[in-house]
Amino acid sequence: MKITFFSAKQYDREYFDQYNKDYNFNLEYVPKTLNERRATNMEPSEAICAFVNDVINADVIKILAEKQGVKYIAMRCAGFNNVDLDAAKKYNIKVCRVPAYSPECVAEHAVALLLTLSRKIHKAYYRILSQNFALDGLIGDSIHNKTVGVLGTGKIGKNFAKIMYGFGCKVLGYDVFESPDFKKNGGEYVTKEELLKRADIIALFLPLLPETRYIINKETIKTLKKGVVIINTGRGGLVNTEDLIDGIMSEHIGGFGADVYENEGVLFFKDLSEQIIPDKKFKLLTSLPNVLLTGHQAFLTKEALSQIASCILLNLDEFKKGKELSTPGAFLA
Ligand code: NAI
Repeated sequence: MKITFFSAKQYDREYFDQYNKDYNFNLEYVPKTLNERRATNMEPSEAICAFVNDVINADVIKILAEKQGVKYIAMRCAGFNNVDLDAAKKYNIKVCRVPAYSPECVAEHAVALLLTLSRKIHKAYYRILSQNFALDGLIGDSIHNKTVGVLGTGKIGKNFAKIMYGFGCKVLGYDVFESPDFKKNGGEYVTKEELLKRADIIALFLPLLPETRYIINKETIKTLKKGVVIINTGRGGLVNTEDLIDGIMSEHIGGFGADVYENEGVLFFKDLSEQIIPDKKFKLLTSLPNVLLTGHQAFLTKEALSQIASCILLNLDEFKKGKELSTPGAFLA
């Protein structure tokens, strides 16, 4: 079976080539993101493997099915908000994902963002490089004893909550489904409104859905504690960037750390260091002293890359053999 990878990086090649020794599929790596034009121009392929910023809407799916003979779409990520599942069903394309790849590593990255922001480690690092050993301006905030609100207590959220509990925090959670693990580790479920009102630190681990889009917006920001720190490793669209910037500039929001950005599709995973970035909101956001962004790298650990490659190849092998997918939650359509 031929599998064409879009948005493929060197690390994808390294891990997929290694795990493919057990399957011997024909793997083709395309560095560029998938869109209508690339779907039209690609070589025919039985399967494609895509990532978070590939465009897999109804138009692309139609081309993949009718022109390129694609039967399977494998998302090498957990989120699938960029795939039109109804269109896939219509064109008889099966879709799968990696439902969990080291959720611990994404939770750890969220903690890294929080600790870096709280103790100004990113600023201290540059001071030491320039032999500036003065401490003025580096006063931090302790995390111990703070109230942490976890929005989305699924696989990543409950791991984050466990770490926060270890730091000596009071942990509040909001989710449409209550997790026994979250409660067992000391978490308390409250309403979304109560969480937003009481939390000193808010962390977002929700999928991007119509109901969760812009969960942090002008109206909800008004209800937050002054000085609140917001951490987002979920999806950029959970936060209305313009309202966030207003909240930070009015000093209502005390810090923002994120691994995702609303319009990251045209920015992330590329070296744009020699280019002018036309996204003014992004430039303004990154210029703020209490904002820390990383470029969608929370998943990027050796452990997670191994799990992604092994799960995707197993999914596709099972699809090809007409079997049910053995990984719970991997089957999407
Ligand atoms: P999960 O599916 O285990 O957890 C999501 C939780 O959100 C579930 O408990 C679900 O009940 C809850 N939820 C869904 N809709 C809701 C709503 N309307 N209101 C309240 N709760 C709702 O997913 P997991 O693995 O924890 O991942 C969460 C998200 O993190 C993914 O959807 C993905 O977008 C993002 N992610 C980001 C990564 C990165 O590298 N930055 C890596 C992996 C995932």
